[in-house]
Amino acid sequence: KTKGFIFDLDGVIVDTAKYHFLAWKNLANSLGFDFTETQNEQLKGVSRVESLKKILAWGNTTVSDDKFQALMALKNTEYLEFINKMDDSEILPDVPRVLDYLIENNQGVSLGSASKNARVILEKVNLLSKFKTIVDGNDVSKAKPDPEVFLNAAKSLHINPEDCVVFEDSVAGVQAANTANMISIGIGSKAVLHEADYIFNDFTEISTDFINKLINN
Ligand code: BG6
Ligand code: MG
Repeated sequence: KTKGFIFDLDGVIVDTAKYHFLAWKNLANSLGFDFTETQNEQLKGVSRVESLKKILAWGNTTVSDDKFQALMALKNTEYLEFINKMDDSEILPDVPRVLDYLIENNQGVSLGSASKNARVILEKVNLLSKFKTIVDGNDVSKAKPDPEVFLNAAKSLHINPEDCVVFEDSVAGVQAANTANMISIGIGSKAVLHEADYIFNDFTEISTDFINKLINN
């Protein structure tokens, strides 16, 4: 049977949170306040707009709409400087093994990411060709935990949501998958991702046996 396997990007395929952190921290510092790793954790899976809103609120700062747009552009320019230095050494362990296994077994493989930089990142790490379809931050109007991104990914694969599996590292993403009626697989800590149907620390813990069960159930 052909199932849909939808991968989040940031935190699942590559660890870009560290680059988001550096870019947001510089931006916060330029506005006169600090931004911590703990705060950065809370931005996982959160869109760029919503992230900036949160950061400004944490810094007790308000800006005009024009300034808000300028800050978003500035952050992304700096973020892309880090992205442009990426290569395939930054792919998280065993992600290619799982992708290749799914492809060899004729499964639908799609990306479901909040990022508007998803394609450029996949290109940098040489994984773009592995995805049959890509749904990213440019294609959706409602951010995770809204299921829109994953429902669109299922549709793009022509596979029913109930026959889709989502790999996610963020709470918002796990909730989005659950609301979409998909199997949610949390990649990260059990304490954080407890709403997921299954949780693994990383892809090295995901066996061929386990994938076969997902395909055949
Ligand atoms: C998510 C990240 O995947 O994409 C968030 O977890 C990020 O941290 C969001 O803010 C939007 O990304 P981008 O690349 O469009 O700024
Ligand atoms: Mg993520």
